[in-house]
Amino acid sequence: MEATLWAVTFSIAFSTAILAVGCAWWMLLNWVWLKPKKLEKFLREQGFSGNSYKVFHGDMKELAQTTKEAKSRPISLSDDIARRILPFHHHIITNFGKNSFIWMGPRPNIHITDPKMIREIFLKHDIFKKLRSPLAKLLATGMVGYDGEQWFKVRKIATPAFHHDKLKVLRLYSPAPLLTRANVKEIKLGEIVIPPGVLLSLPIMLVHHDHEYWGDDAKKFNPDRFSEGVSKASKNQISFFSFGWGPRICLGQNFALLESKLALAMILQKFTFQLSPTYIHAPTCGGANLGSTHWT
Ligand code: HEM
Repeated sequence: MEATLWAVTFSIAFSTAILAVGCAWWMLLNWVWLKPKKLEKFLREQGFSGNSYKVFHGDMKELAQTTKEAKSRPISLSDDIARRILPFHHHIITNFGKNSFIWMGPRPNIHITDPKMIREIFLKHDIFKKLRSPLAKLLATGMVGYDGEQWFKVRKIATPAFHHDKLKVLRLYSPAPLLTRANVKEIKLGEIVIPPGVLLSLPIMLVHHDHEYWGDDAKKFNPDRFSEGVSKASKNQISFFSFGWGPRICLGQNFALLESKLALAMILQKFTFQLSPTYIHAPTCGGANLGSTHWT
């Protein structure tokens, strides 16, 4: 009798273990292969192109290699800095066009450069969520990381304290070169249907340098282009978004600009500038996303 009970218990435990292992394998297979391939097919059917999915790491190895190579040598002052700051995105868009994607591991990340779509993404911030790693979630508390009701309350309280006039010369060297979003449910954006699981890149730097929106002198430093406001400076309203746009626009933008204007004014009272003969042009951005945003 005792032996039978033991045998039944063992058989239940064994079956449960087999089932658990089977489920884990199925989830892993779905995560690293089935889901990415399904999303790839879906995106290609909608006119997107990019590299074929490579199991697990996607484009990450190539991305790391391209970034390392781009940073390994300085550039000349007239060179296109986007090729140094966002080398892989630049490479993919050059080869596959603006409707392209890169593989962030098993998740496809589509490029959104059309200002109308960028506008929609910023407006639908309840669907297109800011993308943050679990570590960033742990470290970055406060408004930047909040969502929904919690964000709304804090934002409403803090907004008046930061209100001031604007300056627009951050176009060429935008401190944040790229913003990313993840959609939480299937949504139609323009003519494209975006399923959940797809990431979206809003490549600020590439849009800010785009001849299509800024004309032939897009890469030229010419603050006068803003003399009649941002909307007249480019062919599109949302071609300039160094501080994001819409309801979640940077709360500190006026403060940051005021602070830099003050600092610049104080420095200019005492010093003059000239380019050092030994200067090497090697701009670097501290973070691919918002993160630390220092240039050297
Ligand atoms: C040149 C300096 C700065 C730049 C380029 C910058 C850029 C940005 C960008 C692009 C976003 C939107 C991120 C997204 O949509 O994913 C953002 C959000 C934010 N920034 Fe800044 N920022 C700057 C300085 C500051 C400063 C000085 C403060 C505070 C004093 C600040 C506070 C915030 C806050 C609170 C948010 C989140 C707003 C929300 O989620 O509603 N920023 N910033």
